[in-house]
Amino acid sequence: MSGSSSSARRDLPLGVFDSGLGGLTVVRALREALPNESIVYLGDTARVPYGTKGAATVVRYALSCARHLVDRGVKALVVACNTVSATVAPERLRIELDIPVLGVVDPGARAAVAATRTGRIGILATAGTIASGAYPRAIAQLSTRAEVVGQAAPLLVPLAEEGWTTGEVPRLAVRRYIEPLALAQVDVIVLGCTHYPILRELIEGEVHRRIGPDVAIVDSARATAHEVKTFLETRDLARHGSGEMRSVHLLVTDVPGAFRETASRFLGDAVSEVEQVDL
Ligand code: DGL
Repeated sequence: MSGSSSSARRDLPLGVFDSGLGGLTVVRALREALPNESIVYLGDTARVPYGTKGAATVVRYALSCARHLVDRGVKALVVACNTVSATVAPERLRIELDIPVLGVVDPGARAAVAATRTGRIGILATAGTIASGAYPRAIAQLSTRAEVVGQAAPLLVPLAEEGWTTGEVPRLAVRRYIEPLALAQVDVIVLGCTHYPILRELIEGEVHRRIGPDVAIVDSARATAHEVKTFLETRDLARHGSGEMRSVHLLVTDVPGAFRETASRFLGDAVSEVEQVDL
């Protein structure tokens, strides 16, 4: 590749997608780790949630989101959705779309293995992610002694989408979902859905009360952002700059107004407009 075309490629934005606003937790971590990068984010709000759908449907949705971002011109795709990362291997997207693709499951699994002392790891995730077995598989590649206990927590996605993150309703749901993890005496809980860090404070509080203060909560957003940074740097794809924050362009497939409000709260001044697209 010539010097000018590789620098043009470096200047392209990163494409990031999720079913809704959960992937913004990854965008926030990416902005911290890679302040020179511009980001185009697609939230498939017309079809959220993905986690309760069958695998074939999730594959179809994921391919349409990924194609849309690739057609807009991005240098790499970050699948900011555990359900998609667990259902469609990043390799498949990489081969079908001929673009680098990074998911959230492997970074989350690596962070969990690094954090556990007892080897008992709990995964809170959507029904689709739990059914896929992607986390136990990824963790088994990294550690032979780890035991993984998975718990589907589907109600946490609509609660996060609604911004209902405090009070009795989300607290009772979280309590119910962490009960099997408490019985299994896990010492690490992976927030295996990018929506869940929106409820992190509440989840952490309940986990520390019910299971113990030393239980580590792993949020794959930060681990993913770190891996994206290393990936871009080692392939000379990272954008050079003065450290000034680059743009975040937000796309949704429905109700852009509601998304803009939540996204602004979440990303601060980065949000100027939200564009609605048809996939
Ligand atoms: N935030 C996504 C995930 O990480 C999807 C949640 C959903 O749409 O059910 O799994």
